[in-house]
Amino acid sequence: MTETKKSQWNSNFAFMMAMIGSAVGLGNIWRFPKVLYTNGGGSFMIPYIVSLFLLGISFVLVEYAVGYRFKRSLARILFTISKKLEPVAWFILFTVFLITTYYVCVVGWDLIYIFLSFTKAWGANPDVFFTQNVLHATESMTGLFTIVPTVLASVIAIWFITWFIIKRDLNEGIGAVSKVLIPLLCVIVVIIVAFSLTLPGASVGYSQIFTPDWSALTNLDVWLAAFGQIVFSLSLGMAIAMTYASYLPEGSKLVDNAMIVAFSNSGFEVFNSIGTFSILGFMAVTTAIPFNELVTSGSGLAFVVFPQVFNIMGDAAYVIGPLFFICILFAGITSIIALLEGFCYSISEKFLIERKKTATVVCIVGCLISAIFTTAAGSTILDIADAFLNNFALLFAVFLECIIFGWIYKFDNLIETLNEHSRIKVGKTWKVVIKYILPVCIAGLWLEGVLTTINNNNELSSTVMLILTAIVIIVPIILAKLPAINKDYYNVEN
Ligand code: PFF
Repeated sequence: MTETKKSQWNSNFAFMMAMIGSAVGLGNIWRFPKVLYTNGGGSFMIPYIVSLFLLGISFVLVEYAVGYRFKRSLARILFTISKKLEPVAWFILFTVFLITTYYVCVVGWDLIYIFLSFTKAWGANPDVFFTQNVLHATESMTGLFTIVPTVLASVIAIWFITWFIIKRDLNEGIGAVSKVLIPLLCVIVVIIVAFSLTLPGASVGYSQIFTPDWSALTNLDVWLAAFGQIVFSLSLGMAIAMTYASYLPEGSKLVDNAMIVAFSNSGFEVFNSIGTFSILGFMAVTTAIPFNELVTSGSGLAFVVFPQVFNIMGDAAYVIGPLFFICILFAGITSIIALLEGFCYSISEKFLIERKKTATVVCIVGCLISAIFTTAAGSTILDIADAFLNNFALLFAVFLECIIFGWIYKFDNLIETLNEHSRIKVGKTWKVVIKYILPVCIAGLWLEGVLTTINNNNELSSTVMLILTAIVIIVPIILAKLPAINKDYYNVEN
């Protein structure tokens, strides 16, 4: 990928599938149900929809407008706006890269579970099986010196698949894969949800999400949770929409597009959660375990509770089980390739390295970092890294982007870009949201994260977070300081 050969989507459908693929990920499948349940059930949909429209779509539009207008990588866009901002771009891109290194690991666990699910090999005690037989988990840091071979092998496999997709031309790689995997993912989810609704006790589960707790609406934390879910689920601030939009041909309908992507992503998570809750309802009725004890999120839901459910489901589990884990795999892979694209594009553009070589280097380095998470202490480190990178670094990135594009850059240019070809127009309200409302909400969410982290702090997590802070400051500064090989990089005309 050089200056002379700029990638461009060959169809609007490919762009849309890639965008939906970037948004639909583990967050939709295993984060949303718990967030929904613990924040008021049915009534949560109100803050959720308000956050989606007011903040989520508004921010996606900023990313679309910036990418489409500049048609450059994030590093070069920020360099163009002001030389001093280039390290900020590398900070965002590098943070996202680090998030990818552990996200790949979780998808690697999932790959192992696809194989296990054909025979329900987790046995009668999936909880113990997951921590002891799969992860070989220990909280002691000496575990860092013990690699778990199966986890390492599956992480290498996921990196290899990622490399195989992203090294190709945009349309042959990301475009083609998204066009296949996203429709397939939808079909699988429809099958799982339809099946789950036939299970005895399903209504006990799904009625929980439709039973509103209106008092939750007066709780600020619930609003922050809704907003946090939208940030995570739509992959805001990760330079994905910006990068993908920079590959759009002239005349694209940006606002219409952003709406479709945002609705598809939210539609997916709400629809999928009906299935998840029905399955948990079935479990609650069959085993008499209280429903609220079953609603977990993250790996606990996918690798412990779901296998427990499959154990009591009978033969249908031999089909539904693999489908469930395949669903996570597809959602994960389409997110991973998106998470890496902005970083790869910036490296390619600055250092004039072709796409294939950049992909190879990024995947090898990524795989080496992921190896840390495949050790016996890996899952402990992973939780700490996740809390830090998601709650601090990423939210800080979204905040910085609001300030840069809302205050430093000439915002009216973005309004002009968006309204050029779209049927739905944006105006002053959008400007107010980006300049004032969004930064305040992000700051609130960020402060909440800081307080939670301080309260739950221990020596290990402080050390890991300190190391991570140093890394996400030093590496971006180095990347920004390195001179560009591409002389056009310094051309700041826009
Ligand atoms: N939006 C995707 C998901 O919900 O899984 C991708 C993603 C978002 C990955 C945020 C990582 C992350 F921190």
